[in-house]
Amino acid sequence: MSFPVRRLRRLRISDKMRELVQQTTLSSKDFICPVFVQEDLKNRVKIKSMSEIERLPLDDVNDEVEGIVNLGIPAIMLFGIPTLKNEAGTSAFDDKGIVQKAISQIRKNFGDKIVIMADVCLCQFTSTGHCGIIQGNKIDNDTSLDTLAKIAVSQAKAGVDTVSPSAMMDGQVAAIRKALDEEGFTDVSIMSHSAKHRSNFYSPFRDAAECAPRFGDRKTYQVPYTNSREAMMEVETDINEGVDIVMIKPALSYLDLIAETRRRFNIPVSAYSVSGEYALVKAASQLGYVNERDITEEILYSIKRAGADMIVTYFAKSASRLLEES
Ligand code: PBG
Repeated sequence: MSFPVRRLRRLRISDKMRELVQQTTLSSKDFICPVFVQEDLKNRVKIKSMSEIERLPLDDVNDEVEGIVNLGIPAIMLFGIPTLKNEAGTSAFDDKGIVQKAISQIRKNFGDKIVIMADVCLCQFTSTGHCGIIQGNKIDNDTSLDTLAKIAVSQAKAGVDTVSPSAMMDGQVAAIRKALDEEGFTDVSIMSHSAKHRSNFYSPFRDAAECAPRFGDRKTYQVPYTNSREAMMEVETDINEGVDIVMIKPALSYLDLIAETRRRFNIPVSAYSVSGEYALVKAASQLGYVNERDITEEILYSIKRAGADMIVTYFAKSASRLLEES
């Protein structure tokens, strides 16, 4: 052989050498752990399509959060499942609502040992299962904004750190920021589901949170997965409205958008690895087709490599345990 070979294998020669040149890191500090809490529940309920994920009664929330804190995970994302659902979604902004109770209980017990984030949406709370308020036969954007702002303020009163609007109503960040500031909650941050796509990867979550739309679909509010420039406009709009952290959702099929957001903007970027992504891995590994540990690591590293600063993931606890061992 006479030509000089460019030997990239030199830096793959040993574990230590590979460690030295590793470009992406992953730790429990990168994760936001979803927590489902259900009103009037006696015992934990397993979610069939999301093995190892459960809905918790309020009484079990402290134990759950303690486990999360001990694993070194810095944040939780709370989702509430109320008993009462109505057209106006009133239990979402009830000061004694399930999410508000969970927030104040966690704040009381854990102080600032965990960042408390809460979902701000209506679909779990409306009888229609839609993320906004229906007027006539359509989802009325601006009426929905008033309600989303009320939800955020009620969560702020309970002691939330970060509200996370996921309704995909236009102007939701501006409306929430204004309401929070007017009520004196200038320190409460907003992590918006900025580019939340009309995705088929959400179906297990709809089981988990009982929030499937009773009619129609979410095509008039969620971003079509065919349009990357539209997704970037959503991100840009949220930034202009004063968001603190933007999110791309789902994660794995949307790595291009995570990378682009990271390149184009200086704001922290989160990625939501959603229920369907989790369920696919769980199902395939239960069938023995893939190795759960290895594939989970690869997926989470890939989301980080694409540019996410943090990942909302149902693997938060299991991956933290795994990373602790390795
Ligand atoms: C509701 C909401 C959904 C998810 C988070 N918040 C479902 C939806 O929009 O239908 C999905 C999360 C997941 O699949 O893990 N606004």
